[in-house]
Amino acid sequence: MADSHELPEATVQNILDQESLKWVFVGGKGGVGKTTCSSILSILLARVRSSVLIISTDPAHNLSDAFQQRFTKTPTLVDGFNNLYAMEVDPTVENEDVNGPEGMDGLFSDLANSIPGIDEAMSFAEMLKLVQTMDYSCIVFDTAPTGHTLRLLQFPSTLEKGLAKMMSLKSKFAHKIWNSWWQMTRMFGIDDEFGEDAILGRLEGMKVPFWQDLTTFVCVCIPEFLSLYETERLVQELTKFEIDTHNIIINQVLFDDEDVQSKLLKARMRMQQKYIDQFYMLYDDFNITKLPLLPQEVTRVEALQAFSHHFLSPYQPSCKRGTVEELERRISMLKQQLSEAESELEKLRKGGDKA
Ligand SMILES: Nc1ncnc2c1ncn2[C@@H]1O[C@H](COP(=O)(O)OP(=O)(O)OP(=O)(O)O)[C@@H](O)[C@H]1O
Ligand SMILES: [Mg+2]
Repeated sequence: MADSHELPEATVQNILDQESLKWVFVGGKGGVGKTTCSSILSILLARVRSSVLIISTDPAHNLSDAFQQRFTKTPTLVDGFNNLYAMEVDPTVENEDVNGPEGMDGLFSDLANSIPGIDEAMSFAEMLKLVQTMDYSCIVFDTAPTGHTLRLLQFPSTLEKGLAKMMSLKSKFAHKIWNSWWQMTRMFGIDDEFGEDAILGRLEGMKVPFWQDLTTFVCVCIPEFLSLYETERLVQELTKFEIDTHNIIINQVLFDDEDVQSKLLKARMRMQQKYIDQFYMLYDDFNITKLPLLPQEVTRVEALQAFSHHFLSPYQPSCKRGTVEELERRISMLKQQLSEAESELEKLRKGGDKA
């Protein structure tokens, strides 16, 4: 490639090299390969880190499918590893471990009903807090499709802003907001009537540490318009929230290395190339890793390990277009196809004569 020296390296090696990295979020549109990529990233990280945990926060868990091993909400060692653990948590399920024993079910559900999504966001924030206390050198998150995770991650900040506003209005409309304020303080397990500092302090503790060196968000996509569009939306949101992102994985790329004759495949390759070019144009400062579309699914540790190769060395099509060797091969294949078609035509003609 003419300008390859100007582009950042086309692999995820930068993630493995960044020793300070503690949280790796993997996100993107539905079905593009988030679980596959996060599983492989966790396998690669386990080679260079003392211990790695992969967490699925998508209620439709598929870590168990990718590794072909059953996981639960408790970290479980992945078969064949001694430092890679996996767990599946469901942020939509209210559970006792997360909400604590304060016995505020009634109040919590009242409040949950009054602020849409608060129960899920609180469970998610508590889960993040919980995993921070766990002793892993790196945690990889296989997230739910775009948007959802970002909303969950931002919830403590959003709530904090809302509360600050409410507090500034408190004296003005004290009687009107008293009821919900009281519920809020109880929800946070604070008895003090107006424990503002205590609530804000607790929210602060729920925020994910998004300091640049500690966290990064890997965007997974496929070379199609909707995925490009969604990636752009995701990158913009991440930038707005000051969450580091500098890796894009373009999955399911059709490489022209099989002497493809199918018109459909050729058309899809052209379409993919158009969007791949746009990815390179829009994200010239990103590490863009391209992964080939395989004829089969990528499940089980062996398949994930084998596929991980493409994460570290840019894909090289086995046959280069435009070389003498490739043209000779194409011509001989076309000659063979021509002779097959001629003999088929001959047979049909003979059959027609008989009829
Ligand atoms: N490059 C590839 N070649 C062939 N199959 C692939 C490739 N990448 C992923 N797959 C397969 O595609 C399916 C979807 O991938 P995966 O589960 O990783 O996507 P996802 O983004 O996590 O989906 P969801 O949004 O449903 O969670 C899986 O069966 C996986 O094995
Ligand atoms: Mg998935």
